[in-house]
Amino acid sequence: MSFGLGNGRDLVPGDAGIEMRSLAPLPDAATVEAARAALAFDPRAWFPLPTRRFELEIGSGKGTFLLQQSELEPETNFLGIEWAGEFWAYAADRIRRRGLPNVRLLHGDATEFIRTRVPDGIVSVIHLYFSDPWPKTRHHKRRVVQDHTLREFHRILEPRGELRIVTDHDELWAWDVEHAERASDLFERRDFEKPASAGEGEVVGTNFERKFRREGRPFHAMTLVRA
Ligand SMILES: C[S@@+](CC[C@H](N)C(=O)[O-])C[C@H]1O[C@@H](n2cnc3c(N)ncnc32)[C@H](O)[C@@H]1O
Repeated sequence: MSFGLGNGRDLVPGDAGIEMRSLAPLPDAATVEAARAALAFDPRAWFPLPTRRFELEIGSGKGTFLLQQSELEPETNFLGIEWAGEFWAYAADRIRRRGLPNVRLLHGDATEFIRTRVPDGIVSVIHLYFSDPWPKTRHHKRRVVQDHTLREFHRILEPRGELRIVTDHDELWAWDVEHAERASDLFERRDFEKPASAGEGEVVGTNFERKFRREGRPFHAMTLVRA
């Protein structure tokens, strides 16, 4: 299915876009931890200045948060991860045309990428904005926040690193809060502080927030700080 995001124009990810399927295969090993260690892969190497602060966004959609925030924080490297091919190509094309050296967009499943590729303690912030709610019970396992993904997020965050969550969906919010409470040995819950790129009256200023705001929906937000 095409969303016609290119509006008739070819979308060109160029150097801004990375295909997860083009990455080296995981080596054979008894556990995923051993495979990750043997691979010795570090996504910060995708940036011209790899030693800079590193933040991840899960489910970047059209890439609006990355575009807005990366211009205000040129000394932070941002990696967005988006599994829907057309949205990935659209967002990567925007980043390429804007010539932002501190933003890269990966095409693939963020939870799989984190589990299999991201080393311990290298991420300062994980952004999770308007994540898909998957309302049917049989689809709940597709939600990004799970007990096991919170353990993985804890592993890749640096000490006092943050997981920032915003959603419009009441039932997903209840799910996120319940999972955060169960992970209270891993994270402390704090109020959400809006990023500098959020506009007047906005919580974070993504495309979904702007769409849902027009529909008059209320939003929920929290920050989980790595204990
Ligand atoms: C509802 S949209 C929100 C997009 C954007 N964050 C915003 O607020 O405008 C959720 C996005 O997350 C992506 N997504 C959901 N689960 C994902 C996963 N495990 N890995 C990568 N992308 C994911 C979807 O394809 C979709 O583009």
